[in-house]
Amino acid sequence: MSDRGSAGHVQHRPLAIVGAGALGLSIAARLAATGPVAVVASSAARAQALGAGVEVAGRLFHPAVYAPDRLPSAEWVVLVVKAGDTAAAARSAAAMRPRGVLSLQNGLVEDCLRAACGDKVFAGQGVTTMGAYREGSRIVPVSEGETLMPPGFEPLARRFSEAGLPARVDSNISAARLAKLLVNLALNPLTAVFRVRTGELQTPPLSLYVDALVTEAWPVLRDAGLQLDAAAAREKVWAVIGSTAGNRTSMLQDVLAGRRTELDAITGAFLRLADRTGAAVPTHRALHTLIALIDARA
Ligand SMILES: NC(=O)c1ccc[n+]([C@@H]2O[C@H](COP(=O)([O-])OP(=O)(O)OC[C@H]3O[C@@H](n4cnc5c(N)ncnc54)[C@H](OP(=O)(O)O)[C@@H]3O)[C@@H](O)[C@H]2O)c1
Repeated sequence: MSDRGSAGHVQHRPLAIVGAGALGLSIAARLAATGPVAVVASSAARAQALGAGVEVAGRLFHPAVYAPDRLPSAEWVVLVVKAGDTAAAARSAAAMRPRGVLSLQNGLVEDCLRAACGDKVFAGQGVTTMGAYREGSRIVPVSEGETLMPPGFEPLARRFSEAGLPARVDSNISAARLAKLLVNLALNPLTAVFRVRTGELQTPPLSLYVDALVTEAWPVLRDAGLQLDAAAAREKVWAVIGSTAGNRTSMLQDVLAGRRTELDAITGAFLRLADRTGAAVPTHRALHTLIALIDARA
C-alpha cells in the first residue's frame, strides 16, 4: 500500500533503502546527510521503533521510515535485506514504482530479484565492500569500501559519490559479483562451521581448507565469467583474509545469533553452477551440508 499525505498524494522520495539493518542503515545515514532518503523496515512495529531514532556510527540517526504496507514512491531503490528475504523486499521495492532497484546483497540473487520485481522494473545486483554490523540496537560501520553497480545505475552511483560513498558503474558487473562470491565461498562457511574470526583461517589446518575451496571454485567461476586467473584468485582471497583478520564474517554472525544464514545464495548458488559443468567440488559440498544442518536449527 502507498503512503498518502494529507492531500491524498503518494509521498515521493528520490531514494529508498529497503532493509533497515546493518548495511541499510549505514548507507541511509550517509545518504541522508546530503538529501532525502526513505528507509523501508520489515514491519510497522519495526518502523515505529526506528522512528524514535537509531545509533549509527556513534550518532543518533532519525530515518524517514516506512512500513511495507505504507510505502512512498521512489526514484531509485537500494535493496539490502538478507538473501532469504529478497522476494518480499523486491515486491516492496517494485511497488514504489522506481526507475531502478539495486541489490547490494551478497551471493547470487539477481534472478530472484528480477522475478519478484517483474518485467516492468529495471533491477540488477551490484557489489559493495562496505562493512557494518549490528550490536544490540546500534549500527557499527566497519569499512567504507567501494560499491559497484550495473550499467543503467549511473545517477544512483553519482548520488552515492556525492554523499562520500565511493561508487561507480562497472561494465562487467557479473565478473565483479563472481569475484565477491569467490571470497564469500572461501571465508563464510568455514568461519561459521569452526566459529572463528577470519584471521584464524591463516594457519593450518584451516588454511588448507581455504586453498581447497579456492582450487575447487576457480574453474567453475571462471567458466561462469570470473576474470581472474588462478593465481590472482588465490591472491585476492588471501588479501581479503589478511585485511579482515579481526572480523567475524556475516555467516558466522548469523550462526552465533541463531539466525538463518545466506547459505543458499552463496554456496547453494555455487553448487548449482558446479552441477552445470559437472565439476567435483567436495569441500564446498561438505560445508554446505554442515551449514544446512546448523540452519535447520535456526
Ligand atoms: N553488513 C555488511 O557488512 C554487509 C556488507 C556487504 C553486503 N552485505 C549484504 O547485505 C545484505 C544485508 O546485510 P545486513 O548485514 O545489513 O543484514 P541485517 O543487519 O540482518 O539487515 C537486514 C534487514 O532487512 C530487514 N528485512 C527483512 N525482510 C524485509 C522486508 N521484506 N522489507 C524490509 N526489510 C526487511 C530485516 O528486518 P528484521 O531485522 O526486522 O527482520 C533487517 O533489519 C545481505 O545480503 C548481506 O550479505 C552486508
